[in-house]
Amino acid sequence: MANGSSGRGRFGQLGFIFAAVGSAIGLGNIWKFPYITYANDGGSFVLVYLLAIALIGLPIMMAELVIGRRTRQSPVGAFLKAAKNTVGGRAWGAVGALGVTGSFILLSYYALIAGWTVYYFGQCLSWSVRGVAVQDQALGESFGAFLANGPLQIGFHLLFMAVTVGVVALGVREGIERVTKLLMPVLGAILILLVVNSFWSPGFGEAMRFLFHIGPITADGLLEAVGHAFFTLSVGMGAMLTYGSYMTSRQSIPRSAVAISLLDTLIAIMACIIMFSIIFSVDAAERATTFGKSATILFTTLPRMFYEMPLGVVLAPMFYLLVGFAALTSTISLLETVASYLIDRRGFSRRKACLVTGGAIFAFGIPSALSLGASGALSAFAPFGERAEGFFSTMDYTVSNWILPLGGLLMALFFGWFLSSRESRAELAEGHGDVSRWFFIWRGVLLRFVCPIAILWIIWAVIGGRSFA
Ligand code: PHE
Repeated sequence: MANGSSGRGRFGQLGFIFAAVGSAIGLGNIWKFPYITYANDGGSFVLVYLLAIALIGLPIMMAELVIGRRTRQSPVGAFLKAAKNTVGGRAWGAVGALGVTGSFILLSYYALIAGWTVYYFGQCLSWSVRGVAVQDQALGESFGAFLANGPLQIGFHLLFMAVTVGVVALGVREGIERVTKLLMPVLGAILILLVVNSFWSPGFGEAMRFLFHIGPITADGLLEAVGHAFFTLSVGMGAMLTYGSYMTSRQSIPRSAVAISLLDTLIAIMACIIMFSIIFSVDAAERATTFGKSATILFTTLPRMFYEMPLGVVLAPMFYLLVGFAALTSTISLLETVASYLIDRRGFSRRKACLVTGGAIFAFGIPSALSLGASGALSAFAPFGERAEGFFSTMDYTVSNWILPLGGLLMALFFGWFLSSRESRAELAEGHGDVSRWFFIWRGVLLRFVCPIAILWIIWAVIGGRSFA
């Protein structure tokens, strides 16, 4: 079972790490994490998030990699194959289908936001060259106008999808591995540069205090931290499973998963240092009016702040390039998850699978693109009422609040209670060696109890009307 379908691609060891880290690091780290940390008052929220990564995200990531590599299949086939002799049998295929559907929906609006970073990269380049004074009000207005411009929204969405399709169509090794190996070091270098630069910013000290102080945390903050742990590690939707199916058997799953989680966390914290050093450089009164809980500061206030910094003309475009690269290595993994379903289960060639799924995802993203101001009807689309208004928010709500937690829950239950421990233990030991010291904690404690209970708590809150960004 471990070495079937040799015609499928295979990552090199380092290539796998780059690709998986690339999937994990994305808009979630550089955009979402800083803003939810800010909204939840830093400190304790960060601590809970670290715990959620270690106790919930990491164990489920290992589970996904185990099932992917064991079966050498994309999500649906993987669950069908792994569940053959377990209670429930073929019904477990639905967990894979849920993941593929979730990846499809997520990519349809993720690529849209990713397109904004390309647009802002271009904007910053032109501001840097022309040397114009960038002002808050003008920035807010121009962002609003950009969102409401249907053709521009669709155009940048198309651009981002086209690049993603181009990379994935080249194959696991020639496309995904090559591109992530190229982009991730660049991304790392830009990040380090920006972090080092923030050491000199007047807000640096306060940013660090904010990030690491221990203060009160709300129940909602707790849940948000757990939910974000899934999103940021790319688990719960089969993306890690799919990458795991291309991993060599010589590589250790536990060590890889720990490395991926650590790097993902490190970069999220670095992003916070960069953003907060900028934010805390302005005085408290301005901060209160400008930063509230807004998710859009990345495009409305940050550019101006960059231009107030020394070297801002260089750093501003670099920053958007960084966010764009981070997003691209994530969209690649989402498309691979969907396309590999058609390749493995429906016999499509890789090229055709990428074009078909990429085209469908692009088309499905159009209503999201038009729901940000271009079309009143799509902005008013709200089947979940106040919890999510507009097509874009409805899709985000569906994925973040339902599909990700549900997928994670079912995976934890499958591993904790259904899949024989002999199977998972054998795969974990492959390329690693003896796992008996902690195997019980992983399967018998974390996957069996801790993960399901924490996730059920989230689902309970969502049923009760809570909505997580
Ligand atoms: N982990 C990515 C991020 O942080 C998002 C993602 C989720 C990518 C699920 C793939 C699968 O932005």
